Amino acid sequence: MAELTNISLARGAPSLDIIAVDDLRTAAHAAFERDAAGTFAYGTSAGYPRLLEWISDRHRVHPDHVIATNGSMQADAFLFQQLVEPGDVVVVEAPTYDRTLLSLRQLGAEILAIPLEADGIDVNALELALQGGARPKLAHIIPNFQNPAGCTLSLEKRHKLIQLAAEHGFTIFEDDPYVELRFEGESLPTMLSMDEAGRVVYASSFSKTVCPGIRVGYLVGPAETIGAIRKLATNTYISPNMVAQSIVAEFCHSGALDRSIDTVKGALRERRDATAEALERHIPEARFVKPQGGYFLWVDLPEGSDVAQLASAAAERGVVFVKGTDFLLEGGESSLRIAYSAVPPDQIEEGIARVADAYRELAGAAA
Ligand SMILES: Cc1ncc(COP(=O)(O)O)c(C=O)c1O
Repeated sequence: MAELTNISLARGAPSLDIIAVDDLRTAAHAAFERDAAGTFAYGTSAGYPRLLEWISDRHRVHPDHVIATNGSMQADAFLFQQLVEPGDVVVVEAPTYDRTLLSLRQLGAEILAIPLEADGIDVNALELALQGGARPKLAHIIPNFQNPAGCTLSLEKRHKLIQLAAEHGFTIFEDDPYVELRFEGESLPTMLSMDEAGRVVYASSFSKTVCPGIRVGYLVGPAETIGAIRKLATNTYISPNMVAQSIVAEFCHSGALDRSIDTVKGALRERRDATAEALERHIPEARFVKPQGGYFLWVDLPEGSDVAQLASAAAERGVVFVKGTDFLLEGGESSLRIAYSAVPPDQIEEGIARVADAYRELAGAAA
């Protein structure tokens, strides 16, 4: 019998074939030639100056408002460390990125989970919670092609969140690593660009547009907050990885970033379409919102479906995905997240056919 190929619909990472290896090699060479002294030194905790320049141009802010970190996960950790004390209330989307939940729990935050809708967080539910006396310090929002749900926050809701933050005195943490990966529809302005009261701290990353192994991400926010985080960063690691940041700076300034984004978007659009078609064909009772970009698609199976059992049965068939419960404090037992970023379309089709086979077997056993 032919050996079963393992298929991962679990990892939110790009496959090697869509990483711009040649352009990265060229960028590394150019970075080493252009500025060996800066590239190979410790540098400062703010990050590599040429990269800070590129980021501040992109977001139309002064470089004092920027810190570049080792991946945006490090940026998230610094921000939480700076702002969140045990017992502080932090708003999160339900479902949300599992590592956000983990970090906030570790810091002793009180998590206020507000449901997500197809157009982003339910702002009415948030407003009701605020009127009911909730006093959050921070709201963590993933505005574009959300991880794990794939949905995008509407413009109207962006305005509403900024208004609520100003009225109730909390900070919005706009966690936006997928913003450049829009396949269709109009791009929406960041809340960072819409806010006039300095209530937004913005994070993004080169993990999804260059490659995750380069570990470069960043924060943009009020100079005071960024200044405090730079101190925290100095005490944590002296400075981030200058070699990586110098390469990314070269990659961005040379135009390679735009080419890479085009490649990634083209491939991911095909993978998103293959996922949606395979689900419609193999599991017609599955409900999902087709994402307009990004890496992920969230699937709700009929109520009563046991996705924990389905995950085991699928793993026996060589397919893995992440259970919905991993992204929620409660609920999600009949939901799952499919990451279509790491696999070509034919493997997506095969992977979903195997999940469907496992699903039918379990449904048959339960009947
Ligand atoms: C919403 C969100 N934030 C942050 C990260 C961390 O990204 P990185 O540390 O690779 O920049 C991810 C990675 O998947 C993510 O989905």
